[in-house]
Amino acid sequence: MPLVTTKDMFQKAYDGGYAIGAFNVNNMEIVQAITEAAADLKSPLILQVSAGARKYAKHNYLVKLVEAALLETDLPIALHLDHGADFEICKSCIDGGFTSVMIDGSSLPFEENIAVAKKVAEYAHDKGVVVEAELGTLAGIEDDVNVDAESASYTQPEQVEEFVDRTGVDSLAIAIGTSHGAFKFKPGQKPMLRFDILDEVSKRLPGFPIVLHGASSVIPKYVDIINANGGKLDDAIGIPEDMLRQAARSAVCKINIDSDLRLALTAGIREHMAAHPEHFDPRQYLTDGRAYVKELVSHKIKEVLGSEGKA
Ligand code: G3H
Ligand code: 13P
Ligand code: ZN
Repeated sequence: MPLVTTKDMFQKAYDGGYAIGAFNVNNMEIVQAITEAAADLKSPLILQVSAGARKYAKHNYLVKLVEAALLETDLPIALHLDHGADFEICKSCIDGGFTSVMIDGSSLPFEENIAVAKKVAEYAHDKGVVVEAELGTLAGIEDDVNVDAESASYTQPEQVEEFVDRTGVDSLAIAIGTSHGAFKFKPGQKPMLRFDILDEVSKRLPGFPIVLHGASSVIPKYVDIINANGGKLDDAIGIPEDMLRQAARSAVCKINIDSDLRLALTAGIREHMAAHPEHFDPRQYLTDGRAYVKELVSHKIKEVLGSEGKA
């Protein structure tokens, strides 16, 4: 099956009370692990690529890796640009084979965010590509942009109808207390998400797909393996899975996961190298890293997203 957009996926996820995992991909092993997990569980899938991933692996390599995944399975898969910073990068991905792009104008003033999102939506829709935009800012690190917790701000529900009406975007990422990276809350701080904001946004945008960024759970198993094998990740903490399950049952149709993949891959590699310090063939340690990524994605699909069997 060729790449699909997220249109049908989101409609079914919205109606069915589950969410689609949007997993960041940076190399072959990650693409393989995610795709195999989704194929085993017959789950629809979004593979997403950041500007940093394009810089690291190059656009063409990533597109071809995702095309290879399509040859291995008949799953519906969307290829999405994560956090497109401006019109140019969105255009480059739309022209270069992506089926979905995010224009992230969340750090811009409201009117400028609208203007750039509208421009991207018009260009994308002309080519059959769908668009995600964001209102409100998340704390954390995306590429070179490090937003500290103080300058992050929740989405204001009273802005969402005007934003969606005037831009014509297909989905909206909102800020309700999630954040990027593996250190989402301060030590001793109780994880908290503003479900009241999500509810208010959903009421104002009936039937409209909402996106949650910064939604890794930072699963203790992988952090513990990393720390037990020479790593040093003190105070790593993510979003509790029961909160993500609650979000997945609501208007949230897309849940972004990157840090959890990084932790699983690193855990596999560190564990392998600690057990076999004499190894230097990447196929040996990447096999273990890839296995943990697959295990993690299966867990997310079954226990958090609810997308098993929905392909
Ligand atoms: O939201 C950010 C994603 O985790 C991508 O991270 O920009 O380091 O590739 P990256
Ligand atoms: P995490 O850092 O929580 O995995 O978030 C990833 C993300 O939002 C990608 O856009
Ligand atoms: Zn994000």
